[in-house]
Amino acid sequence: MPLHQGRTAQHQRHDITTGKTLHQARLYDPLAALFMLGRGRALRERTIALAHVAPGDRVLEVGCGTGEVALRARTRSGPTGSVAGIDASSEMIAVARQKAARANLDIDLRIAAVEALPFADATFDVVLSSLMMHHLPEDLKPRALAEMRRVLAPGGRLLVVDFQRPKSRLARLSPVWLVHRRLPSGVQELPTLLERAGFAAVASGDTGFGYLGFVHGRVGL
Ligand SMILES: C[S@@+](CC[C@H](N)C(=O)[O-])C[C@H]1O[C@@H](n2cnc3c(N)ncnc32)[C@H](O)[C@@H]1O
Repeated sequence: MPLHQGRTAQHQRHDITTGKTLHQARLYDPLAALFMLGRGRALRERTIALAHVAPGDRVLEVGCGTGEVALRARTRSGPTGSVAGIDASSEMIAVARQKAARANLDIDLRIAAVEALPFADATFDVVLSSLMMHHLPEDLKPRALAEMRRVLAPGGRLLVVDFQRPKSRLARLSPVWLVHRRLPSGVQELPTLLERAGFAAVASGDTGFGYLGFVHGRVGL
């Protein structure tokens, strides 16, 4: 059963986005570990490295899910930094809060949609989006990117890690893409959207993890 199904009527009433929210939060980490073939930890470390999260950074993760990336960002940003995470799923935020409390890490975790971020302009040095963009319908992506740019301070940077659109017919048959309905649009389309949202120095590449690519951009000074 896809993680976004099996919702109660109550959850459906309370969805705050047209993005695909995940509600089976307890299953997310074990299933993600399975899909990542035991390389989940390494992927999260790579995400933090690609974003160059450094001590003192104020970091936001959008679509933070159970907090795997946000927790690592919190450790990396150190006592002078701060980390916030938002997700449109209350169940995901509940699990992320439990994990942060267990790890004794102070993270501001909130239920919110990426297209309506509850933060003032120029609040963060780094915005991270890990495996979230493919959950948004095409018409929501420009709004989401505009919001990420709005909350970044001058000189701030955005890192998106997400699925690449399959490059061959054979690739389309892989379970990863079957689960994601063959992904008509992927990380390859994002550089143009970042540029349209006003990001500078936009660059993209492979993460070195299977089907996952990255895009980053900067807010001009
Ligand atoms: C595949 S999970 C990724 C979780 C985490 N970032 C990670 O790397 O493990 C995608 C998350 O995006 C969330 N999501 C979907 N649409 C959203 C939106 N419009 N705003 C915020 N979160 C959203 C889902 O609820 C889900 O938790």
